[in-house]
Amino acid sequence: MIKSPTTKTLQEACQLLLAGDLVAIPTETVYGLAADATNEQAVAKIYAAKSRPQFNPLIIHHYDVKHLEDYVEFNDLAYHLAAVFWPGPLTMVLPRRSQSEISHLAGAGLNTLAVRVPNHPVTLALLKQLQRPLAAPSANRSNTISPTTASDVLASLGERVPLILDGGAAMVGLESTILDLTTAQPTILRPGGVSLEEIAAVIGPVHEAKDHSKIKAPGMMKRHYAPCLPLRLQAVEKRSGEFHLGFGAIKGDISLSDRGDLQEAAANLFRMLRDYDNPERYQGLAVAPIPNQGLGRAINDRLHRASAQEE
Ligand code: TXA
Ligand code: MG
Repeated sequence: MIKSPTTKTLQEACQLLLAGDLVAIPTETVYGLAADATNEQAVAKIYAAKSRPQFNPLIIHHYDVKHLEDYVEFNDLAYHLAAVFWPGPLTMVLPRRSQSEISHLAGAGLNTLAVRVPNHPVTLALLKQLQRPLAAPSANRSNTISPTTASDVLASLGERVPLILDGGAAMVGLESTILDLTTAQPTILRPGGVSLEEIAAVIGPVHEAKDHSKIKAPGMMKRHYAPCLPLRLQAVEKRSGEFHLGFGAIKGDISLSDRGDLQEAAANLFRMLRDYDNPERYQGLAVAPIPNQGLGRAINDRLHRASAQEE
């Protein structure tokens, strides 16, 4: 349902987000489909609502650098860029802090996180009131055009999102520029609201990722997380030396979801793969069969990549 931002509706948005529900939020670039970035279950709802066949990593939003510092490591360049472009349509990819509370699903298991401070008064007010980071991809179904008005969001997601905060038409109307600062040379992964020239004027030469198609399917990205241990799929029973992740009727050593709930399994997937990827204790990881429907497709996509040890 679309609602105008008022004290009351902002309060309602906070309550929904704290309860692990989704809220569509206005930003200066496009509308975002937001969830509490520290809540794995809430983040899983984003992928379900968007019908994403893959777990693309999401951008983490907060209202200032100080709060984002809890989750990623800023270097001098990043501080400088933040001072010039935030709030605004620049997203920076930075090293994830090891103690970061951000959901591993939101980060797609990577050791980096994409962060930004959006420039919209409604969303800045919401973030201040909430005092939590929001994970938010564009608020549309997968493979459709990004929404620049509240009614675009309603048309694309309908009742999948309980509340759409109406912040008017997005001023920029195009997604944020994604700049990777974890590479030897700062690299633009996705062109967007801030131009390469504007960035270069501040920090000097900037690389441009040649193949933008890569960012559309970051599951194929080189640095995508893969476990150290060999990963065996469709594992109905565990073999000696393995740690077994169960699902539904297959209990395993620990279950991705006892009740066979794909959203719960998605929420647990990256964290459990990390937690038990321990060559000192196990010789391999095994995962029970996951039904290939709904979020199960994204889970299987990720598992296939991880088991192939793709570079
Ligand atoms: O303008 C925007 O950036 C909007 C608003 C809502 O903030 N958000 C947005 O999110 O466009 P989304 O999920 O549609 O696109 C995020 C992109 C994805 O293509 C993803 O691959 C990339 O950011 N990304 C996220 N984390 C990354 C990481 N750690 N390394 C490289 N790319 C990353
Ligand atoms: Mg998008």
